[in-house]
Amino acid sequence: MTGAIRAAVLTDIPTLTTLIVRSARQLSRGYYTEQESESAITYVFGVDSSLIADGTYYVIEADGVLVACGGWSRRRTLYGGDQRPIGAPAELLDSAIDAARIRAFFVAPQYARRGFGRILLAHCVTAAAQAGFRSLELMSTLPGVPFYGALGFDSIESVRDLLPDGVSLPFVRMTRPISVPANRDASGTTR
Ligand SMILES: CC(C)(COP(=O)(O)OP(=O)(O)OC[C@H]1O[C@@H](n2cnc3c(N)ncnc32)[C@H](O)[C@@H]1OP(=O)(O)O)[C@@H](O)C(=O)NCCC(=O)NCCS
Repeated sequence: MTGAIRAAVLTDIPTLTTLIVRSARQLSRGYYTEQESESAITYVFGVDSSLIADGTYYVIEADGVLVACGGWSRRRTLYGGDQRPIGAPAELLDSAIDAARIRAFFVAPQYARRGFGRILLAHCVTAAAQAGFRSLELMSTLPGVPFYGALGFDSIESVRDLLPDGVSLPFVRMTRPISVPANRDASGTTR
């Protein structure tokens, strides 16, 4: 199935929020407990509107609906949404030294495993490369690890975020060079 990719706009936020909650709830099963998943939805999973303002957050529309979202960032914040900002969002990265961030990928459950995540990642890689970045870094959810692993990222650190309700949520920090070996396509997938 094909979908049209475009930059997200602020008026997408209500629809994106619904998509993110449904994606997180259903696609986290087997990776996070229900309590972890609900805490993550409350405190971590959500839109970071600074990416929308930067023009680096994207949506895919298919069948007339938003089916996927995700983006990259030239700012230091590694993860999180507007509801609980983590780090200093205004701080710009130096493309000569720092890794561009890959941020907040969510696919609607009924559209999972149809390649939309891969399309979004390839789009982000191309844009970050055009902005001069040479590497990528992200904080992956546990359901995200097999996805990012298949697209060329290496796990470098297991991290826990202690949320305000006492839940300690596990994540994995992952990195990847922008350029991938010749046997991989722009998304990083091995051909
Ligand atoms: C992670 C996520 C964005 C992947 O999106 P997707 O559109 O389903 O991924 P794709 O179809 O492009 O998958 C690309 C490849 O990643 C790997 N992959 C994706 N999901 C996988 C899973 N659940 N288990 C194992 N491998 C997986 C596969 O190799 C897949 O290729 P294949 O389908 O040809 O085997 C989606 O599962 C999601 O929204 N999860 C919940 C939210 C979340 O945790 N997001 C990560 C935020 S950091």
